[in-house]
Amino acid sequence: MIIKSVELSNFRNYEQLDIAFDEKTNIIYGDNAQGKTNILEAAYVSGTSKSHKGSPDKEMIRFGETEGHIKTMVEKGGKEYQIDIHLRKNKSKGIAINKVPIKKASELFGFLNIIFFSPDDLNIIKDGPTERRRFIDSELCQLDKIYLYDLTNYKKTLEQRNRLMKDICFNPSLRDTLSVWDDKLIEYGKKVIRRRREFIDEISGIVTDIHSNISGGREILQISYEPNVDDIFFGDELIHAREKDLKYGQTSVGPHRDDIKFTIANTDIRKFGSQGQQRTCALSLKLSEIKIVEQTIGEKPVLLLDDVLSELDSNRQNFLLGSLYDTQTIITCTGLDDFVKNRFQINKIFHIVEGKIADS
Ligand SMILES: Nc1ncnc2c1ncn2[C@@H]1O[C@H](COP(=O)(O)OP(=O)(O)OP(=O)(O)O)[C@@H](O)[C@H]1O
Ligand SMILES: [Mg+2]
Repeated sequence: MIIKSVELSNFRNYEQLDIAFDEKTNIIYGDNAQGKTNILEAAYVSGTSKSHKGSPDKEMIRFGETEGHIKTMVEKGGKEYQIDIHLRKNKSKGIAINKVPIKKASELFGFLNIIFFSPDDLNIIKDGPTERRRFIDSELCQLDKIYLYDLTNYKKTLEQRNRLMKDICFNPSLRDTLSVWDDKLIEYGKKVIRRRREFIDEISGIVTDIHSNISGGREILQISYEPNVDDIFFGDELIHAREKDLKYGQTSVGPHRDDIKFTIANTDIRKFGSQGQQRTCALSLKLSEIKIVEQTIGEKPVLLLDDVLSELDSNRQNFLLGSLYDTQTIITCTGLDDFVKNRFQINKIFHIVEGKIADS
């Protein structure tokens, strides 16, 4: 699939912008704070209804305005779709597909698959488990509607259970109602655990192959799912931890504490990998997402690379750009030096200055 164009009005620092992309490699370059990442954010919102940074809608509306718009034209499976996002300051956003408003953001699912790659993603191995869970979730939620539903319900139930446990401290008679939330948590939690395991199994072979290529065959990277609790034991363990959980007012067992393990030659890279090794593993993981999306939905996703090239040495830059043939890619950077030096193929270049496309 490809993004043909993005039209912005009163979005971040853009009063008005109309940008038409090439189906292959696009470069958006410019000095700091000119609005490069904001364009990628708009594309990401069109695919997922949310900001890649987790910003609330009102922060994405141009300062001083009450509404903002994103209109994105997408081509998928030979058909064209128009995705309209209407951001409103004090109301939830409006979304329309081909001018027909949709009621739930989840109906946007499947029209535009996006992989967003930022320098933060290069730290996914060395950062805490929260970032690694976010990786699984953001990927699976784009690929699997049922997972999105189960995860949303799991998170909601978890929040309600934790709140109830705090209330029980002051009002012990509420204790009887806890088992209702336990049952729900177990029901959704088990589904989340099973789907995550399946996903990691699916992706692990791809990651190993990609990593072997990047490292010139020197490293065999293995990833495995590290669930906080296995699905079959979740119920028992939750009941077992109940008194402790009540004491601290939070749920100590469940997939909200899962992790992914990365090993090379039996060494845990999260703890013992060199910085370069950790970053290369992150790159392998990120690139495997493209493959998995393609395998699952039969089309390549759109890849957004926000300032990552300058973070990679030239070998890894070469590998990354060399593996993207046939994938629409939108790259932001502050200068074109790397591209000129390495003679990378570029199909379209945009120079952004203060929220406008300048003549390059
Ligand atoms: N709601 C908003 N209204 C107006 N301007 C905003 C809003 N939100 C952010 N900005 C401004 O947008 C500008 C550009 O942001 P952006 O992150 O896209 O820059 P960038 O070109 O990617 O820079 P860098 O190279 O540093 O990553 C910032 O100066 C910021 O103050
Ligand atoms: Mg930026």
